[in-house]
Amino acid sequence: MTDHIYWKEGSLYVLDQRALPFKKVYIQCRTLADVIKAIKNMTIRGAPLIGIVAAYGVVLGAGEALQSKGRCTEADMGRICARLKATRPTAVNLAWALDRMKDVYKRCIHDADRLDMLTDEAIAIHVEDIQNNRMLSLYGAELIADGDTILTHCNAGALATGGYGTALGVLRAAHEAGKRIKVIATETRPYLQGARLTVWELWQDGIDVELVPDNHAGLLCRKGIVNKVIVGADRIALNGDTANKIGTYMIALCAHQSQIPFFVAAPVSSFDRHIENGSYIEIEERDGKEVKYVQGKILTVKDVKARYYSFDVTPARYISNFITEKGIIERPFRKYIRMLCS
Ligand code: MRU
Repeated sequence: MTDHIYWKEGSLYVLDQRALPFKKVYIQCRTLADVIKAIKNMTIRGAPLIGIVAAYGVVLGAGEALQSKGRCTEADMGRICARLKATRPTAVNLAWALDRMKDVYKRCIHDADRLDMLTDEAIAIHVEDIQNNRMLSLYGAELIADGDTILTHCNAGALATGGYGTALGVLRAAHEAGKRIKVIATETRPYLQGARLTVWELWQDGIDVELVPDNHAGLLCRKGIVNKVIVGADRIALNGDTANKIGTYMIALCAHQSQIPFFVAAPVSSFDRHIENGSYIEIEERDGKEVKYVQGKILTVKDVKARYYSFDVTPARYISNFITEKGIIERPFRKYIRMLCS
């Protein structure tokens, strides 16, 4: 699955993840506003993919400025990046990609080269993400044994990244290496990234996958039905505290209680060198309507209040290892994460 996002003749095309696995619909983003909408309304999602799409959004925004007044000034660039940064607050890959785009803007001396240089950088961010995922997946596959049954949450697959995936990349690499693995995917209410996207990706690869409701982690760990857990990340603090899809923390607690290894697979772009611990991570709170409706169908009393935090933070003490493209991170996390980010 590498065709879920592509750049063609000045437009960004993204596969609408809200329609999967039932329909393959591409949305054409011609403008910065189209990209902002696609990130906010979850047409695309997943931390690394949000960063990549935002980088292409900068290209579209700069192109619009150039077209309307012949220049894209530093102030224009600041406004473009600020609008993109405000789309979703938790995934640090967004700010990371925007910083790279701003650096390229500053390095460019001639106005005429600006758009080409920004386009090249967006493509580089995209291509590097796929390479990093493949590399971290090779490292991670070493932690997976023949016969393992591994629980995963949400979707940290090709669809959530430039391609191949992080947590699902590790499972893919283990499968490609001939290890017989079984994956248990949580549904991941309310967007059902697990049911709709993770299951779809693994199914297409011929990986043995089984779907469970989100409330199964305790029983699965306690009964020894799963013997490993692997998830992705939206933001990792210097001490290793990790934001990921809401529910990850509960799964980590269950795994810890049953002494089951809990792995976080993420590229270096998911580490936030500016924050000491997870208390500084902003948790996105989405509209409660998204809990009350699934795929457009109401599930409850129409006017009931509903709350939806999109992410939670798993304290570092419940994480066994981080899997990155630079290798496996062991304890003490703070020391190695600092080295990784420097
Ligand atoms: O709300 P989403 O679907 O963007 O949340 C995605 C996740 O929480 C993923 O696990 C995370 O971004 C890692 S993706 C490699």
